[in-house]
Parts: sequence; C-alpha cells; structure tokens
Amino acid sequence: MNLDLTGKRALVTGASQGLGAACARQLAAQGAEVILLARNADKLAAVAAELATSQGQKHSFLVADAGQPAQLALEVSEHLAASGGVQIWVNNTGGPAPGPASSAAADAYAAAFNQHVVSSQQLLQVLLPGMRAAGYGRILNVLSTSVKQPIANLGVSNSIRAAMANWSKTLAGELGVDGITVNNVLPGLTATERLSSLITHLATSADKTEEQVQEGMLASIPLKRFAQPEEFANAVGFLASPAASFINGINLPVDGGSTGSL
Ligand SMILES: NC(=O)c1ccc[n+]([C@@H]2O[C@H](COP(=O)([O-])OP(=O)(O)OC[C@H]3O[C@@H](n4cnc5c(N)ncnc54)[C@H](OP(=O)(O)O)[C@@H]3O)[C@@H](O)[C@H]2O)c1
Repeated sequence: MNLDLTGKRALVTGASQGLGAACARQLAAQGAEVILLARNADKLAAVAAELATSQGQKHSFLVADAGQPAQLALEVSEHLAASGGVQIWVNNTGGPAPGPASSAAADAYAAAFNQHVVSSQQLLQVLLPGMRAAGYGRILNVLSTSVKQPIANLGVSNSIRAAMANWSKTLAGELGVDGITVNNVLPGLTATERLSSLITHLATSADKTEEQVQEGMLASIPLKRFAQPEEFANAVGFLASPAASFINGINLPVDGGSTGSL
C-alpha cells in the first residue's frame, strides 16, 4: 500500500492547533511539503518548526482569516505563485459557536456560511489549477459527524456542515475526471481545545459540572474514550495518499462508533 507523499505539496487550513496541526504533522511524516494556514502566527510557527523534514521538505506558513474569503484567496494565491501549486488540501477551520438552532442569530448563520462555504469555494478556485496540472488532487474537508446525525446544541454548526457536505459531494462528481478526489472526514469527540471549550459551554448552560458533561459524552462512545488528534490525522493521511485513489465522495466518521446511523 503506497502511503508515500514525497514530492507532493499540501495546504492545511486551520492548522495552528488541534486536528489541523495533527493532519499537518501526519502529512509531513508521509513526506509531503506542508503549507500551514490560520490566524495565529506564533502558533503556526511552533507547529511548522516541529514538522518532519526527512525528505528535505521546506514547510511554510501563512497567516490568513477564513472569515475574509477574498483576502484569504488572494494571500494563498500570492504564496503559491512563489512556491508552486498544491496537490493536497486539508480544508479545516474553526467551528461555529455552540447553542440551539432556534435561538441563534441570523447573522451567525451568515457568518458561518461565509467562513466555511464561501471561503472554501474561493480557495478551490486558487487550488484547482495546480491539482489539474499535476493530475493528482486530494481535497479533504474536516466536517463533523453531524453530517450523518445532527448534534444537540450545535444548531449553526449542524446546518453549515450539511451545506459543506453537499458542496463536497457535488465536487466529487465534477472533479474525478481530473484525478481529483473530494472526501469528508468527520471527527467524533476528539481531545482538542475545541472539545474543552464545548464541555465548558455545555456545563454552564446545563448547570452541570464539566466532569458530568464529560461522563455523559464518554457514555455515548462505544470505545469509552475521546479520540486523540493523531487518530483523526491517520485517516486523513491515508485518504491523501495514492493508496486511496478510488475513494471519492465519502463521509468517513472517525468517532469510535458513536454515530447512530450507517
Ligand atoms: N474536536 C472535536 O471533538 C470536533 C468534533 C467535531 C467537529 N470538530 C470540528 O473540526 C474542526 C477542527 O476541530 P479542532 O478541535 O481542531 O478545533 P480547534 O482546536 O478550535 O482548532 C481550529 C483551528 O482552526 C483555526 N481557525 C479558526 N478560525 C479560523 C479562521 N477564521 N481563519 C483561519 N483559521 C481559523 C484555528 O487557528 P487560529 O485561531 O490560529 O486561526 C485552529 O487552528 C472544527 O471545525 C471543529 O468544529 C471538532
């Protein structure tokens, strides 16, 4: 099985911590040269400094905001003009704030659509020419298991993940002819800063302790533990590789079996 990414270049957005940073580490370990993107320069520099360089890769990072799609696309475009196209894109960004769907502000839906869907579409325009020229493309959207089963108290997130999943599935049908696959990887509960802040929010809003919230979450996972970011990144590393050449248009949960649907 060929997992080698030597000679390939990857853009990982939302890469300054958590799942994105773990994906960047995994792709670099498989030989890819990685461009990290997020808003926090210090964190990006720290992640970049620890990426594997055994294939002589020269990793770099880019400070940009997915909430500003046109500016984001411009900055990525300028970076790639100097360094060349990418063949792999791990499309990740921060999740919308938690809360019920019914009481969320209309503006919160608009902002999430802008940060997730509009940004993705703008970046796609920048990245497609390089993938087409290489005849190799792997687009991996980091979404959520809510694509298969909506999660209570994540109203805006549930809505925006569904939009992203359908954008992605449509692209999978359009881009396969160019050797580009488009897949979604769906994290279940994974030990990152995002999960910690979610636990704090749920404890406050339900008048429970954080330990009680955590126990409730763990009870819903057949493996009875949270995932580690590296376990999620392993799935991304496989789907990015030549070994995953005929996998296109899927939603892959990495959730320890907790999603209650097929
Ligand atoms: N962890 C879980 O249990 C879990 C479960 C299901 C779904 N998810 C989803 O999976 C994704 C990654 O999760 P995570 O746990 O790694 O989240 P995280 O710890 O909150 O990390 C999010 C990353 O996205 C970046 N980011 C946030 N807003 C951005 C923006 N406007 N522009 C550019 N970069 C931005 C952050 O960096 P900067 O702040 O430096 O920009 C950070 O690197 C999120 O969408 C999350 O909602 C996570």
